[in-house]
Amino acid sequence: MYKPLIIANWKMNPAVAQEASELALQTEKAAAANPGVETVIAPPFPFLHVVHSSINTVKLGAQNAFWEDVGPFTGEVSWRQLNDTGVSHVIVGHSERRMYLHESDEMVHKKLRAVLGNGMYAVLCIGERQREGNEIPAEAGEQLRGGLQGIKKSLLAKLVVAYEPVWAISTNSGARPDTPENAFQAMMYIRKILTTMHDRKTADSVRIIYGGSVNAKNISLFLKDGGMQGALVGSASLQPKEFQEIIRLAGQVRL
Ligand code: PGA
Repeated sequence: MYKPLIIANWKMNPAVAQEASELALQTEKAAAANPGVETVIAPPFPFLHVVHSSINTVKLGAQNAFWEDVGPFTGEVSWRQLNDTGVSHVIVGHSERRMYLHESDEMVHKKLRAVLGNGMYAVLCIGERQREGNEIPAEAGEQLRGGLQGIKKSLLAKLVVAYEPVWAISTNSGARPDTPENAFQAMMYIRKILTTMHDRKTADSVRIIYGGSVNAKNISLFLKDGGMQGALVGSASLQPKEFQEIIRLAGQVRL
């Protein structure tokens, strides 16, 4: 139905534009060799132009967007400015923004409304901060409902939900990847909430991807056994060889 979606979340890396351009060129090579995979790079804002000019097959993403289009919002960058720069995918509500910038479900909701309402793809990040055993990730469920409440179902065709258990994000202390079994359970839970909020058809049209310590060793497992339709990749997306391998392996999976 869908191509696997692999998104590079570079976070606040690399340090200089030259490195960003080289990294983008390496990723472009792998993406061009694997047309069965939809690849997106989300660089820091100052590198959007240099990345854009280094890619062709790869799509341009942003790590955040403000909900107004223009105006007196010092330090913010709007969905419209990003759109004009060539951005098609916007990551919304990443756990690092929720944690360090106190982004609330209400803010996430406004961003989703702006991004989806203006024809861009939104990658809504949800994930529980802690988990005991294999319990249902209820906190992720609340973030999903909080972000999406009141958004028209016709807009959900361009929604991607990234399930990222916070404790599994590689740079958080004691991080370990989730198991594909837990990821599968989370995926079913997310689909069930979407079905309850709307209907089965709408729920099935939303892509659900996994994030948290994804690498070349576990990508195939998350796609096959985890039932995920792609991955949001942090640290490994900054290592050209590793990320090229992730794209190649994703290309071998039939979703
Ligand atoms: P990670 O980051 O792949 O380094 O765990 C994922 C993310 O935070 O999006």
